[in-house]
Amino acid sequence: MSKVAFITGATSGFGRAAARKFASQGWSVVITGRREERLQALSDELAERSPVHYQVLDVRNNEEVVQMVQSLPETFKNITCLVNNAGLALAPQPSQTVDINDWHTMIDTNITGLVNVTHALLPTLIETGSGASIINVGSIAGQWPYPGSHVYGASKAFVKQFSYNLRCDLQGTGVRVTDLAPGIAETEFTLVRTKGDQAASDALYEGTRALAAEDIAETMFYLATLPPHINVNRMEVMPTDQAWSPFAIHREN
Ligand SMILES: NC(=O)c1ccc[n+]([C@@H]2O[C@H](COP(=O)([O-])OP(=O)(O)OC[C@H]3O[C@@H](n4cnc5c(N)ncnc54)[C@H](OP(=O)(O)O)[C@@H]3O)[C@@H](O)[C@H]2O)c1
Repeated sequence: MSKVAFITGATSGFGRAAARKFASQGWSVVITGRREERLQALSDELAERSPVHYQVLDVRNNEEVVQMVQSLPETFKNITCLVNNAGLALAPQPSQTVDINDWHTMIDTNITGLVNVTHALLPTLIETGSGASIINVGSIAGQWPYPGSHVYGASKAFVKQFSYNLRCDLQGTGVRVTDLAPGIAETEFTLVRTKGDQAASDALYEGTRALAAEDIAETMFYLATLPPHINVNRMEVMPTDQAWSPFAIHREN
């Protein structure tokens, strides 16, 4: 029986590229997200190569998550790799001007959603044991501060620490956990962050070479197929064109 990857946020960006990568290598894939037409289209595309099961899922809703996991078809029940990818940034402006609902949405998705899915899938991952893995998509924003990152960066810092802590609890089960922390990547991420401002999204990626969704999908597949005795705790991946800035110093004049 083929290995099964369970991917959240597969309707776009990293998640969709990951579904294509795992399916191209003969894995069965469970793909989830909120936009059904996109899941349906991806499912049709992948089904030519590999077994695929899709389900509309809002990761923020724990009841939905539990229900979905319980009703997985028999051949998709034994998960080898969970790609906890669904997430978003909102409100790139300073904290003092942010709508509190945007903060709540990031917390509900990037933190609550991620723990919902992890909790629901831990039993099957532990049953798989040696070779199983959880790839939590964090961000460089979880490690490095920058203006306008506020709750987004903090939510990704949660992902990092949760990943490390999970490792402690899962020691001896064979289940690996990685905080995969990408830098700037060209997906729909900035379009979502700016609430549909295509010009702002284009401007961010203009004149530089950002990571592509496929670059991160390759990394995910690499992590999932490492020899079972190897656990990469955290992997930070930036494009060569991205680096840190100097400290900002406020001056009175
Ligand atoms: N692009 C970057 O520069 C970058 C850098 C570092 C980390 N990341 C992280 O990478 C992950 C993927 O982002 P991306 O760049 O691929 O962005 P994207 O193209 O906007 O994809 C985000 C995915 O998350 C899903 N999603 C959002 N809210 C959801 C919810 N409540 N329930 C279920 N699915 C939900 C979306 O699906 P639906 O809308 O259909 O639900 C979509 O498939 C995120 O966790 C993001 O924080 C991105």
